[in-house]
Amino acid sequence: MASLRLLSRPVATISAAPRSLPRLIRFQSTSSSYENILVDTPRPGVGLITINRPKALNALSSATFVEINGALKKYEEDKDIGAIVLTGSDKAFAAGADIKEMAPLTFSDAYVNNFIAPWSYLTTLRKPVIAAVSGHALGGGCELAMMCDILYCTKKANFGQPEIKLGTIPGAGGSQRLTAAFGKSKAMEIILTGNNFSGEDAEKYGLAAKAFDGGNKEVLEGALDTAEKIASYSRVAVIAGKEVVNKSQDLGVREGVEYERRIFHSLFGSQDQKIGMKAFAEKKKPEWTNS
Ligand code: CAA
Repeated sequence: MASLRLLSRPVATISAAPRSLPRLIRFQSTSSSYENILVDTPRPGVGLITINRPKALNALSSATFVEINGALKKYEEDKDIGAIVLTGSDKAFAAGADIKEMAPLTFSDAYVNNFIAPWSYLTTLRKPVIAAVSGHALGGGCELAMMCDILYCTKKANFGQPEIKLGTIPGAGGSQRLTAAFGKSKAMEIILTGNNFSGEDAEKYGLAAKAFDGGNKEVLEGALDTAEKIASYSRVAVIAGKEVVNKSQDLGVREGVEYERRIFHSLFGSQDQKIGMKAFAEKKKPEWTNS
């Protein structure tokens, strides 16, 4: 907790002591009390993380990321959790990396300490993570949402990569994930102009699985419903399903199909495959063992 307090000091204090940067890239909090997020388990099998820095429109300071990563790790290790939801508020999912914290960084600070790299922890999780986005999802906020396995948003959500307006470029995967979803021309336009796009467009271009009417309440309900559904299935099958979809990003179709088949074959070694298929034949509800 002591080190977490240090991370949460006012930015002015941090910038006055630039050599203390290694604290900014700490990986995760071991604390169970958080200052920048809220955690909850609102549905069976569902872990919820709410980014909660309203005064800074949920800007993603290093301290905030330490807490997000700590909560993600707890849910990943918790056998009772089958899916995770990450959300913000009506006004902002997250308005980007914390600009005031970044402003004084030197190249050496950023490069040597691999600034931003710990954000990618989310992408190493085996349990699915669903983003529920309303309001601003800009810069690092947009990138964080795109790292999630399923992206839900409101129709009015305000996405964008405005880094060009700050004299920089996306640094947490925006150029890669946006291009994969939108294609080169649209991604280039968004990144080089800094123009924002709506949740409706995010759904239209395939970045979001679904855009909801209303605000954070509505999109969060949708995300929790989906998370609860996923958490009600065999953990073995869910992890395998996530793994094979992710492999499609790295492999060509032929290798990907072969990879999928091998994982499919391996599931015949799980108890849950026997339980699921037997329950179907007997017209019963399967009681998963997650093994
Ligand atoms: N970092 C730090 N503080 C931020 C912030 C950010 N990204 N975004 C908003 N805030 C702060 C504001 O400074 C302001 O604080 P004060 O009240 O202390 O002045 C408070 O949040 C409210 O913000 P505004 O008064 O600006 O609210 P608004 O409703 O008028 O405007 C907004 C909302 C359009 C989102 C505007 O705040 C904005 O443009 N924010 C910056 C968005 C941005 O450029 N994000 C990209 C960051 S770079 C990045 O993320 C790099 C990367 O790839 C990892």
